[in-house]
Parts: sequence; structure tokens; C-alpha cells
Amino acid sequence: MNGAFADRAAESGVPLFVRRWLAHPLRMGSVVPSSATLCKHMARVGWPREDGVVLELGAGTGVISRAFLDAGLPPDRLVALEIDPDLANHLRGTLRGVEVLECDARTLADHLPERFAGRIETVICGIPLVLLPFADQQRFVAAMAKVAPGRGFLLFSYCITSPLPAQKLGLSAKREVWTPLNLPPASIWRYRPL
Ligand SMILES: C[S@@+](CC[C@H](N)C(=O)[O-])C[C@H]1O[C@@H](n2cnc3c(N)ncnc32)[C@H](O)[C@@H]1O
Repeated sequence: MNGAFADRAAESGVPLFVRRWLAHPLRMGSVVPSSATLCKHMARVGWPREDGVVLELGAGTGVISRAFLDAGLPPDRLVALEIDPDLANHLRGTLRGVEVLECDARTLADHLPERFAGRIETVICGIPLVLLPFADQQRFVAAMAKVAPGRGFLLFSYCITSPLPAQKLGLSAKREVWTPLNLPPASIWRYRPL
């Protein structure tokens, strides 16, 4: 491979993402990171008010967090959480000034530093909840509600209809975005407590 091309590929995090997908296909849920278009939409619909903090669960190679930073969110108002140690290392090395938590999102309340308490305004869930049994979906929803009560969360998905059984989970569901410019085409859903 041409050296400059290999450098650019490594910087994008795509080769790392594909390696982690090969190791944990179900946990990763996607072969490649979200597209720049999907990330920009996410930053638009998830933009917090003054002083609000954005929390991204399942940050992967950090493309969504990067879109918030590129749109002007100060790094100290962003928290990126990832279960995979290689991806968490990548996030620490590339998202300067951002708090990176390496843990299972179901235990996030135990890992979130005190200074973020009561300040989380947008929760983005990158974890492929659609692939999980209902009881597990409930655990993730409860974990998010514990750190951001009443705020709900944004979830991207490749499904045509809601990827979660919203009513059964005590949530309302609204599709905010659909874009064909992602592999595969994706929607952003907003879930709020009923
Ligand atoms: C579909 S990828 C999304 C990556 C990135 N947000 C993006 O849009 O490209 C899902 C990510 O969720 C992470 N993940 C899966 N289960 C998790 C869990 N229980 N806690 C934290 N992260 C998890 C995976 O390691 C993976 O990086």
C-alpha cells in the first residue's frame, strides 16, 4: 500500500474499526464507522444548550464526538465512553481534552466523574441495542436515565422502523433524520421518557 494512503487510513481509524469488528462482530454492530454525513446530522440534532454536556456511548473511533468538536463544542463538554480497550486507547490519543471512559455502558453511573453530575444534556447511544434481548435493552435505557434523568437519548440505526420497542420500554420514539449517505443508509431516532 502507498505510504501516504496507509497513513491516512490509519488516522481515520477505519482499519482499527474493521479489526475490532472481526474480533467482536455483534458488539461492534457495524463494519465501518458512521459516515461524515451521519455524524454532522448527529451534531445538529444533539447540539446542547449553553453549558450542557454531550455523552457518547459506544464511541468507537470517535467520529461522532469529532463532529461535535469540529462544530465548535468545547472538549470539556464532551464525554466518550467505550468498552473496547483498543478503541478507548484510540479515543484517548485522538480526542484531546475529552473525558474518555473505558467501561461497559451499563455501569456508566459508577464511572462518570462527579463534575458532570446534572450536566448531561444529550446522550448518544452508538451501541447496537437492536441486536440485544429486551432485558438488556432495559438495562442500557436505565443506565442512561440514571445519569441524564428525563433527557432521553439519540440512537442511530439501519432499521426502517424503530429499532427499539419504545412503548414497552416506556419511551416515545421519533425519527429525526434519515440519510442514504451512510453504509448502510441510517436513521437517527430520538427516544424520550413517556
Ligand atoms: C456501531 S459501533 C459505533 C461506533 C461509533 N459511534 C460510530 O458511529 O462509528 C458500536 C460501538 O459500541 C461499542 N459497545 C458495544 N457494547 C458496548 C457496551 N456495553 N458498553 C460500551 N460500549 C459498547 C462497541 O465497542 C463499538 O465501538
